[in-house]
Amino acid sequence: MKRLVIFASGSGSNAENLINFFQKRGNVSVIQVLTNNPRAKVLDRCKKLKISALSFNKIAFSETEDVLNILKTIEPDLIILAGFLWKFPEFILNHFPNRVINIHPSLLPKYGGKGMYGKHVHEAVVNKKESETGITIHYVNAQYDEGAIIFQAKCAVLASDSAEDVAKKIHKLEMEHFPIVVDRLLTS
Ligand code: GAR
Repeated sequence: MKRLVIFASGSGSNAENLINFFQKRGNVSVIQVLTNNPRAKVLDRCKKLKISALSFNKIAFSETEDVLNILKTIEPDLIILAGFLWKFPEFILNHFPNRVINIHPSLLPKYGGKGMYGKHVHEAVVNKKESETGITIHYVNAQYDEGAIIFQAKCAVLASDSAEDVAKKIHKLEMEHFPIVVDRLLTS
């Protein structure tokens, strides 16, 4: 059984989708969900799904080894950032080389970097009158959104699309592709 840890900061629809996908498959177990936000909706989702979830603060995450020690105990095959908004500390990354991945709601390197998350990305895409956007799944390194790209999927942006319309298209792509890409990484 492969072991996953998921980090999320907000709603957690990707976390829930991954949990449901692998509960059906039975080949992978989501051992722990971790969040930096004690009010994040992902905590309610995990309660319903009967998945262990914990919140932590900056001290536990980046000023001490508390979160690192949780991860070391779990020994995850993959650590997944699914809507996680804090920069991942390099000292944690060093313990899990090529085992931390992120999903980003644009076609990186476009619309990445600090402050580029969620609706801010979709608003920028609409303001720039892009004709397409998409999702990127990539390895995490010490810079925001700059690690090696594993997978991208595209969707069209119509001139009439609002940022909310784009968000819906991106959500659909994420639900469709993310679990499959994770499954492939774990089994290849
Ligand atoms: C997702 O669209 C994800 O790609 C994005 O946040 C959303 C989280 O949704 N991540 C980023 O913007 C990272 N820079 P969710 O909490 O419902 O899974």
